[in-house]
Amino acid sequence: MTEAELYSLYKGVYVPVLLHSPQSLKYCEDFRFRADDVLIVTYPKSGTTWMQEIVPLIMSGGDLASVETLHNWDRVPWLEENRACILNLEQRPSPRLFSTHFHYNMMPPGFFEVKPKVIYVMRNPKDVFTSSFHYYGMSSFLVNPGPQGEFLKKFLDGKVMFGSWFDHVKGWLNAEDKERIMYISYDEMIMDLKDCVSRIAQFLEKPLDSEVTEKIADRCLFKNMKQNNMSNYSAVPPELMDQTKSRFLRKGIAGDWKNQLTEAEVEQFDSVYKEKMKDVKYKFVWD
Ligand code: A3P
Repeated sequence: MTEAELYSLYKGVYVPVLLHSPQSLKYCEDFRFRADDVLIVTYPKSGTTWMQEIVPLIMSGGDLASVETLHNWDRVPWLEENRACILNLEQRPSPRLFSTHFHYNMMPPGFFEVKPKVIYVMRNPKDVFTSSFHYYGMSSFLVNPGPQGEFLKKFLDGKVMFGSWFDHVKGWLNAEDKERIMYISYDEMIMDLKDCVSRIAQFLEKPLDSEVTEKIADRCLFKNMKQNNMSNYSAVPPELMDQTKSRFLRKGIAGDWKNQLTEAEVEQFDSVYKEKMKDVKYKFVWD
């Protein structure tokens, strides 16, 4: 199936219609934020699910109940997706936890008025591409990636769900009110998860003792999260996500792009990256 059949264009980017109805997009546009809401913001395949495990565990002081009894999409729901409309989010006690894949300039008016806290998770775009290639291949609500070279062109041109990785990252890096935003990368989480958990906890004003930090980091290791049926997408029917083709929690490493991209593709990627990111001052760990 094609982009025209599976996606709609919302504020200039593709969103899969199966998950984003006109009603859910309107619900998000009108959403009433609270100042103590916490938003996990990501370009898809950058570590959303990982952060949906870490943040609830920090907020609960290491109590495992929330990650063992609620699916990640109900625990930290996406504001733009259909489920948001039926979860009674208005009734949830503070601090509420949400996810979104929106670009900065797509955020609804209420976000800019209230300025909730944001954790913006980035990932080496070559690994985002690699993870996406497998994910698009196993999800029936996304356009089949086809040959890798074609998918790479679409990815670099932003003709994929949620548009261009470059625009997403640059938009959020240029956001106003930066003291309300924590920037962190998947790659840092791979390097030192315990330190990242501790930094996130500080940002959320939920300081943890070393033992609890250790417990949360251990619980969020790839091998352990893979076992959590509330986070590994095993509850999604195979007609939607065929995990015999590729697991949702697939490899969980940094640098898998080296096994995926040809030398010519790496060159192509690097030249687009260099051009698009030339004015960005932020120091990424993968550069
Ligand atoms: P891979 O496909 O490279 O394995 P998202 O949740 O934003 O869709 O991102 C999914 C990616 O994050 C997948 O990458 C998945 O395996 C990885 N991921 C999820 N939980 C992880 C964890 N605990 N440790 C490392 N990677 C994790």
